[in-house]
Amino acid sequence: MIDCATTLNGRYWFNVIEQQMMTQTPGWMNSIDEMDDQEFQRWSYLLKQRTGMDVKYARKSFLTTGVRLRMRELGFTCYNDYYQHLLSGRKGKIEWTTLVDRLTIHETRFLRHPSSIELLVDVFLPKYLKNYLDGDHLQAWSVGCATGEESYTLAIELDDYLKRSHRHVYYGVVGSDISLPALAKARKGIYDARRIKNLSQQHIDRYLRKKENDQYQVDKALRERVCFNMLNLLEMDQDVIHKMDIVFCQNVLIYFDESLRYTILDELVQHINPGGLLVIGVGEALGWKNPHMQRLHGYDVLAYTKESSDE
Ligand SMILES: C[S@@+](CC[C@H](N)C(=O)[O-])C[C@H]1O[C@@H](n2cnc3c(N)ncnc32)[C@H](O)[C@@H]1O
Repeated sequence: MIDCATTLNGRYWFNVIEQQMMTQTPGWMNSIDEMDDQEFQRWSYLLKQRTGMDVKYARKSFLTTGVRLRMRELGFTCYNDYYQHLLSGRKGKIEWTTLVDRLTIHETRFLRHPSSIELLVDVFLPKYLKNYLDGDHLQAWSVGCATGEESYTLAIELDDYLKRSHRHVYYGVVGSDISLPALAKARKGIYDARRIKNLSQQHIDRYLRKKENDQYQVDKALRERVCFNMLNLLEMDQDVIHKMDIVFCQNVLIYFDESLRYTILDELVQHINPGGLLVIGVGEALGWKNPHMQRLHGYDVLAYTKESSDE
């Protein structure tokens, strides 16, 4: 069981990933010098500038190990050469997506935070869908979706709710992330049994197909309701983003500093329909306030609804 306090600032996952990296770190790493403090500043600045991720000095070895492993794979021995390679045109852009994937934390699972889903299904949907007519469209967005478990969870819950309540509403889910390898896995929709263990047996039977080696694939009909796109949260203004009714942004903001968290949330608000729902990871932006958003109190969730157009 993960302790919530350590999860909140991302420290727990930095430690886990660092441990994994260390176990893969053979003796040849000694051929690449330790990163000195000045070099660390340069790399952490680049990461922060391009992804928003705030790697503090205490996590220096997490960043160093990730960079060194990647340098070794490509045959670089000098930090500056690899740094310049990353800045150089198309090849650098492609390499950057690989490095970012190594340095970001994709830990996730189906129904990771059941209280958020309870709020969605028991509180938000019954009220929000009151004014919906047959054939209307409901759109959800999983921001920082990693390998897709949160996006498919939303699809499962929406599908199940609409069927149970005999509503003929069309729904779709978008999952977005900065990591291309994570998105590629998400599109396949194949998961180990441990990733789905929070789902009810009924939902497993209905929405997943058992494959070999204790793996499951999301049913094709459900996969067709979910699409995955690359989106850097620092570059939302450069993308065409449709208006959403439901936005889940959980366990993403923890890697950013406070002012960036608030900026990103303010931007997300602009993409939410009147009356729509925004769910953030518990404790991820407690001090955030936006004049268009109203906090939903009384639930074990950090959630807001947007003011309706008639308010
Ligand atoms: C820990 S996962 C969260 C997955 C899922 N939302 C959940 O709660 O289980 C965090 C994700 O945020 C993504 N991420 C980090 N920085 C990002 C950025 N600047 N833009 C978009 N996604 C980012 C990472 O690639 C990673 O997949």
